[in-house]
Amino acid sequence: MSVPTVLVLPLPAQGHVNPMIVFSQRLVQNGCNIIFVNTEFIHNKVVSSMGNQQGCDTGRSLIKLVSIPDGLGPDADRNNFGVLFGSMLNNMPAMLEKLIEDLRLKDGVTVSCIVADFLMAWAFEIARNIGIKGVMFFPASASLLALNCSIPRLIDDGIIDSNGLPITQKTFQLSPSFPPMDIQSIWWAKTVDSKSANETYKAVVLCVQTLELTEWWLCNSTPEIEPGAFSFLPKLLPIGPLLRGVTEEKCLGQLREEDLSCISWLDQQPHASVIFVAFGSTTLFDEKQFKELALGLELTNRPFLWVVRQDSNSDSNNNLPLPNEFKGNQGKIVKWAPQQKVLSHPAIACFVSHCGWNSTIEGLSNGVPFLCWPYFIDQFFSKTLLCDVLKVGLGFDADENGLISRGEIKAKVDKVLSDENIRSKAHVLKEKLLNNMKVGGRSSENLNKFIKWLKE
Ligand code: UDX
Repeated sequence: MSVPTVLVLPLPAQGHVNPMIVFSQRLVQNGCNIIFVNTEFIHNKVVSSMGNQQGCDTGRSLIKLVSIPDGLGPDADRNNFGVLFGSMLNNMPAMLEKLIEDLRLKDGVTVSCIVADFLMAWAFEIARNIGIKGVMFFPASASLLALNCSIPRLIDDGIIDSNGLPITQKTFQLSPSFPPMDIQSIWWAKTVDSKSANETYKAVVLCVQTLELTEWWLCNSTPEIEPGAFSFLPKLLPIGPLLRGVTEEKCLGQLREEDLSCISWLDQQPHASVIFVAFGSTTLFDEKQFKELALGLELTNRPFLWVVRQDSNSDSNNNLPLPNEFKGNQGKIVKWAPQQKVLSHPAIACFVSHCGWNSTIEGLSNGVPFLCWPYFIDQFFSKTLLCDVLKVGLGFDADENGLISRGEIKAKVDKVLSDENIRSKAHVLKEKLLNNMKVGGRSSENLNKFIKWLKE
C-alpha cells in the first residue's frame, strides 16, 4: 500500500482547525502525510502560538502546515461570514490549485485526496477537476449538518422563507427521532446583518449542493450523542470523539498561546471542586452580563478557572473590565487555557460552557457535568442534547431583562454539583464515548476503513 498525501482544509476558525488537526494526527499515526492548509491569517496565529514551528514531524510521517491568503486585507472583519466566504470563494480556489501543482513540481509531492470542511466545499470541485478524491469533514454536530441538508424541507414546511429567514417563532423537528430544535438554530439568519445573513444562507445552499462531489462524509461525533442525526444522514460516518492527547506539551492548531499555569493551579485544588468556565473562541459578552458572571462565580464560594479572552483585534473584542467588587480570591482567570488538559484534570467539578461542538465533545469525553450557556449556531441544540436528552447538564434561566443573574449562577452551580444522577450519567456516557476510539470501537473501525480506502 502507498503512503497517501492528504490535503486537509479547515474553515478559518478555531472550532474548525482543532478537530481537523486531531483528525490529521490520527491519519499521520496511521502512515499518511498531511498538508494542512490554513488561510494566512490563521496560519500566522497557529505558528506563533507554537513558537514558530512549521509542522509536526512524528518520525514516520508529517503534518506540514502551509497557507494561502483568504483575499481580505489585514484589518478586514473576518467575523462577517458572508464577506469572508465571498472572498475565499473568489480567491482561494485558484491558489489552492496552484499550491497542489507547486507541491508536485517543486517538492515531488502528489496530493491524492482533499479532506475539506463542509464550508470549504468549493475545494471538492478542484478535487474533481484534477482527478483526486474529495472527502467532507464536518467539525460541528451531526445535527447541524442534518439541518443544513434540510433547507428545501424547511421551506416546504413553512419554517423558513426562500431567503432562508425564519417565518415561525416556534420550535421544529427535523424528523420524529430528532429532539425539537429552537428557531434560533437557523444559524445563517443570525449573522451580523441581513446582507451577511443572505450571503451566508446562499453559501450553505451551495456547500450542500457541492457535497455530491464527495465520496465520504466524516463527523466528530458518535451515535450515542446524536442517534437521530445519524439515522437521518446514513452517509455520515462518526469518527469521534476526536480529542487532543493530554501529554502533548504544545498543542498544534491553537490560535492563541495556552496559559499552562492553570494546570499547576488546578493541582493545588481539591478533587472535583473547580468550576471551569469557558465560552470558546468567538462568544462575546455585554458589560452587564460579564459583571454578573464575575459576581456570580464569586458568590458560589467555590474555586473557579475562568477563560476571559483578551484579543487586541476586532476578531473578538472581549476586553471588558472586571467589576470593582470582584475580588477573585478563590478563582484563576486566564486568557486561553489548554482546555482538553483542564477538562481531564481531577480537580474539575463542572463546566460552564457555551456548548460549542468541540467543547461539548471534550466535556462529555471527560465525564464533566455541564452548565449550558449557548450563544449561537448549533449551541442551542447542543444544550437540548446535553440537558434534555443525555441529562448530563442544566441550563441557566434569564430574568425578565434577559440577564442571567449572579443568584441564578450560584443556584445552578449548587444544583448541578449536588445532583448525583447527572454525575453518574456523565460518567457512564464518558465510558461509552471513549469506547468508540478503542481498538474495535465504532469510530476507530470507521477511521480504519477510511484509511484503507485512502491507501488503495
Ligand atoms: C465554533 C462554534 O461555537 C461551534 O458551535 C461550532 O460547532 C464550531 O465552531 P467555538 O465557539 O470556538 O467554535 O467553540 P468550540 O467548538 O467549543 O471550539 C473551541 C475550541 O477551543 C475547543 O477545542 C476548545 O478545547 C478550545 N479552547 C477553548 C481552548 O483550547 N482553550 C480555551 O481556553 C478555550
